[in-house]
Amino acid sequence: MTDALVIFTPSGKRGRFAVGTPVLTAARQLGVDLDSVCGGRGICSKCQITPGYGDFSKHGVTVADDALSEWNAVEDRYKRIRGLIDGRRLGCQAKVMGDVVIDVPPESQVHKQVIRKSATERVIAMDPATRALYVEVAEPDMHEPTGDFERLAIALRDQWQVEDVACDLGLMRRLQPVLRKGEWKVTVVLHKGNHDARPRILDIFPGFNEGPLHGLAIDLGSTTIAAHLCDLADGRVLASSGVMNPQIRFGEDLMSRVSYAMMNPGGDVEMTRAVREAINTLAGALAVEAGVTAASIYETVFVCNPVMHHLLLGIDPVELGQAPFALATSGSLSLDARDLDLSVINASARVYILPCIAGHVGADAAAVALSEEPGKSDDMVLIVDVGTNAEILLGNKTRVLACSSPTGPAFEGAQISSGQRAAPGAIERVEIDPATKEPRFKVIGSDLWSTDPGFSAATASTGVTGICGSGIIEAVAEMRMAGLVDQGGLIGGPEQTGTPRSISTGRTHDYVLHDGTAEGGPLITVTQGDIRAIQLAKAALYAGAKLLMDEMGVETVDRVTLAGAFGAHISPKHAMVLGMIPDVKLDKVVSAGNAAGTGARIALCNVASRDAIEATVHDIHKVETAIEPRFQEHFVNASAIPNAVDTFPELSQIVTLPDVSFNTSGSGGDRGRRRRG
Ligand code: FES
Repeated sequence: MTDALVIFTPSGKRGRFAVGTPVLTAARQLGVDLDSVCGGRGICSKCQITPGYGDFSKHGVTVADDALSEWNAVEDRYKRIRGLIDGRRLGCQAKVMGDVVIDVPPESQVHKQVIRKSATERVIAMDPATRALYVEVAEPDMHEPTGDFERLAIALRDQWQVEDVACDLGLMRRLQPVLRKGEWKVTVVLHKGNHDARPRILDIFPGFNEGPLHGLAIDLGSTTIAAHLCDLADGRVLASSGVMNPQIRFGEDLMSRVSYAMMNPGGDVEMTRAVREAINTLAGALAVEAGVTAASIYETVFVCNPVMHHLLLGIDPVELGQAPFALATSGSLSLDARDLDLSVINASARVYILPCIAGHVGADAAAVALSEEPGKSDDMVLIVDVGTNAEILLGNKTRVLACSSPTGPAFEGAQISSGQRAAPGAIERVEIDPATKEPRFKVIGSDLWSTDPGFSAATASTGVTGICGSGIIEAVAEMRMAGLVDQGGLIGGPEQTGTPRSISTGRTHDYVLHDGTAEGGPLITVTQGDIRAIQLAKAALYAGAKLLMDEMGVETVDRVTLAGAFGAHISPKHAMVLGMIPDVKLDKVVSAGNAAGTGARIALCNVASRDAIEATVHDIHKVETAIEPRFQEHFVNASAIPNAVDTFPELSQIVTLPDVSFNTSGSGGDRGRRRRG
């Protein structure tokens, strides 16, 4: 009998096989991506396929009704107990009897593709470092004495082509009872990171146990720790959460934490302990939220800036506080979670930390590069990850530059008089009527403007409590557009602006955004100090971007991507009115959400992406803002709103900024421009 032609879709892979070959075997020999956890024993149902019958002129074959062996008892039992979609077969049970076309549905592919939901949708191909494998191990034999582990290793080699496995002592201790309980049939959780010479067994279960297996993608920021708990089989995010970084009590920004470590012996150890505890708490909370056991978390990927990176690892960050800003290590790291005291997740869990780009540009910037891929862009894209420290990337296919700029926590609502974190009740959108100077606003938790009927009722449970980061950006930009603030950042007095909402506080003025005192609520104002804090933050951001543009030799950029949890909420128009970002067409400003967190997720779900980002990081040219004299010059110019020297032709097509000046009011002059100049 001649061999049968087997064609797999969607891959198009084809080959000839002896009649009687199981479809799973044919798929493996052709390198078709068909999943299996039980190794063809009819237990896992991962190998489901859909045979096609009839004429396939495209492939030049006609598939007869008996092209596959008959439906068998294993499939029948599986369908009765667990259910199988009509038309599906188990690839390990169905044998090739004639020419056949076989479709591998997405859920049966190991390397299935997951669509990332964001403004710029991208596909993550699943290729996790951790997977479950079912094996049947030979029983011990007095005549051929070998250890149980050695026979397990042989079974993995013979049944899964996994060579030379390793396991740690903790697992070795559990091996014998599990093998016996499973009657020599076990499922192992196997991990192989991109730098691991040997695959290692992280866990072992009696019998067949396909998991599920979970991983954490953690964006460890200076102010917040944000984490996603993902299913390692399909990349789904089962729970996401964030907590404040408890190191804030040692210093709000990075340099103050480095100083704390320098001034207080053992200060670095305290900060390390604090952050590790917070990560453990967060991991536990995520597991509860997702309804999974924390012990099913076998991997954690971290992205973080260099100071967070060192403090997580328990390395004193003192060298990062002074030139030449040497990192203890800039390469990626693969570690045991227990080395970082991550005790809530599985005891054998592994950790991967993305590489840092340089002393001030960390693994978080690398993760943004992995997520946003500036090095694959045809046009010149500026990517700004807005946080306490802004990570800035500029580039296209030819070259990518990166820097980090110390914006401080103002954009996150800190250091703002009525500032608060983004939470229900926080003002997030602001409009000010240029004629009447009257504001209206929206708070998180309600879609109504404050001037809409029903606003009070809609916000009764939350109240109006403060201003979050996006709210303060809009408030300051709207004040500039309404002529309440001049180019230097000064708030005009009531006579100059014509509104009683400008109130004098001695030498300066505040603008009253909301007075809730009659109902026992807060008086929410934008103070001169708030405007100064925003000026400093946005000037640092813009100066960093300009420095990269100088280095690149470009006057303009084609696109701007705003990243960061908070970047998603920034209005491009207001950001440009403030002069946070360079002039560009408004529709060319997009938000990428938490790109660093997405980069962490990609590295978690796809082990090959780790090699890719490590190679990319080598090619990214890093610009050091702290020692670059032009940074100061750009910073001084960028302290004006929007800028003392740069023009904004695209912006001026849609917005005319009033030519007001409050410098002669005796209320402080143009200190904003000189603050750090
Ligand atoms: S491979 Fe597990 S059921 Fe077919």
